[in-house]
Amino acid sequence: MEATPHAAAEAALTEQVVARFADTPDPRLRALMQGLVRHLHAYVRECEPTEAEWFAAIQFLTDTGKMCDGLVRQEFILLSDTLGVSMLVDAINHRQSTGATETTVFGPFYIAGMPDRSAGENMALTPGTPALVHGRVFSADGTPLRGAVLDIWQTAENGMYSGQDTAQPTGNLRGRYRTDDEGDYAIRTIVPVSYPIPTDGPVGQMLTSTRRHPWRPAHLHFMIDASGHRRLVTHLFNQGDPYLDSDAVFGVKPSLQVAYEERPADHPLARRFGFDGPFREARYDFVLDPVPKAGD
Ligand code: BEZ
Ligand code: FE
Repeated sequence: MEATPHAAAEAALTEQVVARFADTPDPRLRALMQGLVRHLHAYVRECEPTEAEWFAAIQFLTDTGKMCDGLVRQEFILLSDTLGVSMLVDAINHRQSTGATETTVFGPFYIAGMPDRSAGENMALTPGTPALVHGRVFSADGTPLRGAVLDIWQTAENGMYSGQDTAQPTGNLRGRYRTDDEGDYAIRTIVPVSYPIPTDGPVGQMLTSTRRHPWRPAHLHFMIDASGHRRLVTHLFNQGDPYLDSDAVFGVKPSLQVAYEERPADHPLARRFGFDGPFREARYDFVLDPVPKAGD
């Protein structure tokens, strides 16, 4: 069947815009821009927004940008996360299955330059259920990695991160731990809680008007660096959390779930790590991918 004159003109417009990028010297930038135009035009062709709807979309993106402060509020990351795009970018960038620990979203609440902490130091300056999170860091071939740096962040019991919640002391529930000569790490903290992502901006309005909930299952964030290895950005999720199946940002993977087991006050680890009552213990070993050497 012949395309209608409208369809032909609309398709010609797309090709004209694509062609306008043909002289982009950087081939990667050219591909990214031409792909963007094709897919954006296909979206418009499929959904046929009215002019008022398209203006509302532009207003939404404008409001999203205005909500960003460059420090702890990054509404565009939230948008990418809640649309599942962050996890799709993560997935296509970690397709190799070398046995390395799986990755998940970075999120908008990391703060660089947090305190260096000694093994087993308590990073919780606010109350919660005391917990020990410990284990080892290995290279993919099973060699323990000494001196690996584990940069950690988690929310307080009120579901807010220090920095986001200015009432919390600086560095609360954040810190940089290092593995010892055997590749062991130990973090004293509180059991993470589930919390809603911020809903006071455009992304919150999008969730409300589409009847989506904003909750993330309880988790502890890790960014792990070891010499000669790919950086690992991941979380440990609390086993049994009610939001594991409906994370607002689609970040959960079964391999990243960990149990926080109850331990009594007279447990050997209590003395070693200074707990003066019952606590929870979570154990998890991380595996990092070596950076391929030139020629590999
Ligand atoms: C977080 O886990 O900190 C997070 C991730 C994505 C969006 C919002 C928060
Ligand atoms: Fe988080």
